[in-house]
Amino acid sequence: MSLARHVSSLSTPKDSQSRITDRTSAFVLPFARQSLNEGTNHTQVDPDHLIETLRDHPSKAHRHHVQGAISTVTPYSSRYASEQEISKFKIPKEGAPADAVHQMLKDELDLDGRPNLNLASFVGTYMEREAEALMVENLSKNMSDADEYPAMMAMHARCVSIISHLWGVQNGETAIGSATTGSSEAIHLGGLAMKRRWQEKRDKEGKDKTKPNIIMGSNAQVALEKFARYFEVEARILDVSEKSLYRLDPELVKKNIDENTIGVFVIMGSTYTGHYEPVEEISKILDEYEEKTGNDIPIHVDAASGGFIAPFTYAHAGGPKW
Ligand SMILES: Cc1ncc(COP(=O)(O)O)c(C=O)c1O
Repeated sequence: MSLARHVSSLSTPKDSQSRITDRTSAFVLPFARQSLNEGTNHTQVDPDHLIETLRDHPSKAHRHHVQGAISTVTPYSSRYASEQEISKFKIPKEGAPADAVHQMLKDELDLDGRPNLNLASFVGTYMEREAEALMVENLSKNMSDADEYPAMMAMHARCVSIISHLWGVQNGETAIGSATTGSSEAIHLGGLAMKRRWQEKRDKEGKDKTKPNIIMGSNAQVALEKFARYFEVEARILDVSEKSLYRLDPELVKKNIDENTIGVFVIMGSTYTGHYEPVEEISKILDEYEEKTGNDIPIHVDAASGGFIAPFTYAHAGGPKW
């Protein structure tokens, strides 16, 4: 039904005060807020008033609130699909039609960017239909409940194995791994492990353990800084430059590490440029430092976006494997 036809059928004598007649059509518009008499030659439609009018219309008085709702919900009609106000902030007293709620939320989410056009944050832009289907089919499983869902946990172990082979695990080596809800959690768990390791060492040596610090470049993704804030570690954020290709600068790493450094965050796939930071070069600097001082500083490689790409590229990450 066209809007104009819909509207014309709603006019009632009670509306006469706000009713005006559009010069270009014969329809009576009960919802117009601005009249031609006020000197304008167009009418303005107030959508909220229109919806109110639709709900209060006497022809709907006898109906239950979901009956008579528009049955085919579309982005253009979803606001009319329930005869009762659907609050955004409270559960409606008498419920709400599922199809209308679904469509209204879908309409609102349409205002977000489109992932497949989002090359700015370059993550999660496309997924195969089959992968999406598997996710939807298993949404109701609680991943932390290993007893209830052993098949999923066996698959989890196989994923750790697949990734360790991708990264060149050798005979006799054992890879340890765990799924996380994203790189932020991986960074936080990795950072915590480095902090605990440092604390235990300081305990054994009877040294102060109140001033831990961690090294990262100023290009670091916000999750890395969050680790420092959440877990009370001083963030030593080192400048990046054209010379360092806007990545963590090995020269500055050398100058900023000390006995309180719990670790160095090195990124494979900088969020802003996609660059890999020089993991090997920084590892050598830390080896030299250990030789001189006896302090072994570990690295956490944040491979949020590069970890599943590097092994398939010229970078030959992990050494020859296939
Ligand atoms: C380098 C880097 N580290 C960490 C993150 C955080 O990842 P997540 O959003 O999966 O927690 C991102 C996300 O863009 C990233 O690019």
